[in-house]
Amino acid sequence: MSGKQRKNKAVFSRPALAAFILIITGAVFLYFWPEFPGQVWTVTDYADPEAIEEEDLSKEDDAGEEPPADLEDVNDPFEDRDDHEEPQEKAEEQEDKVKEEAVEPAEEELTTPDKDLKVISDGDCLLALVTKETTLKEDYAPVDLEAIPSYMNPSYSMRLRSEALEHLEKLWKAANEDGVTLSIRSAYRSYETQKQLFKDYASRHGEEEANRFSARPGQSEHQLGTAVDFGGTDADFTARFGQTKQGRWLAKNAHKYGFALSYPRDKESITGYIYEPWHFRYIGVDHARQWKQSGLTLKEYLEKQPQEFE
Ligand code: DAL
Ligand code: ZN
Repeated sequence: MSGKQRKNKAVFSRPALAAFILIITGAVFLYFWPEFPGQVWTVTDYADPEAIEEEDLSKEDDAGEEPPADLEDVNDPFEDRDDHEEPQEKAEEQEDKVKEEAVEPAEEELTTPDKDLKVISDGDCLLALVTKETTLKEDYAPVDLEAIPSYMNPSYSMRLRSEALEHLEKLWKAANEDGVTLSIRSAYRSYETQKQLFKDYASRHGEEEANRFSARPGQSEHQLGTAVDFGGTDADFTARFGQTKQGRWLAKNAHKYGFALSYPRDKESITGYIYEPWHFRYIGVDHARQWKQSGLTLKEYLEKQPQEFE
């Protein structure tokens, strides 16, 4: 090879190598974009806070995810409302509001249960009443948690109680047969995970606002190991999820597999939480059917069932 040829080869190969590295880096970046920490708080592409600790996910499977408060009033595109506002405008307006209100929460306020709270004695009971007036114990964790199959979410591992998982798989199959593709975005969350999650939200949105969409530790149905956040759409964790194919299918069919919608639309005064069309809790097929027929919120339905407190 002549000196000239050698020189040409070197000049050509460096930029080619640089371009190759850039393309690969870009591809990797785009692939993992929703899980980049910087994306966690964006309105349109809300990502999993647990993914920040991605390295920990192999050992802990209680990946958590909650909606940003500023999405709660995203308008229903299927409703002809006089008070229509563009979702994005509304989101920005609320985002400004919550930014103003955001304060660093005191650790004690987040973790110390109110003395008036009723302490749930048996979290394993499928009908345990988990609300803002009750609390699970800090050390409560279900004994029969099982890994959710990766086809339900290949990005990170999660667990659910055995019976709930069995029924989730049936639900999944039925949805598939109806041409509905779901994804599981969050399932079991430990007390500690919920504590961190709520703390993060409270520091960003202010405690009061955060508590409209995120439960305080001890007060999340996710700690029961029977609650699931569904996704699989471009509207995950927004009110608009309820109008997607997935959201509509779940609203119509989830109870047949034992899952009840915990936080329905316009019931915040009862449930304490904004509309969460993605959050379902397994209560058993018979009870889910009765709940559906009752027209009550899940909270009201469970309040009618025998409860045991310490
Ligand atoms: N998003 C529900 C209220 C929870 O945090 O459990
Ligand atoms: Zn949830």
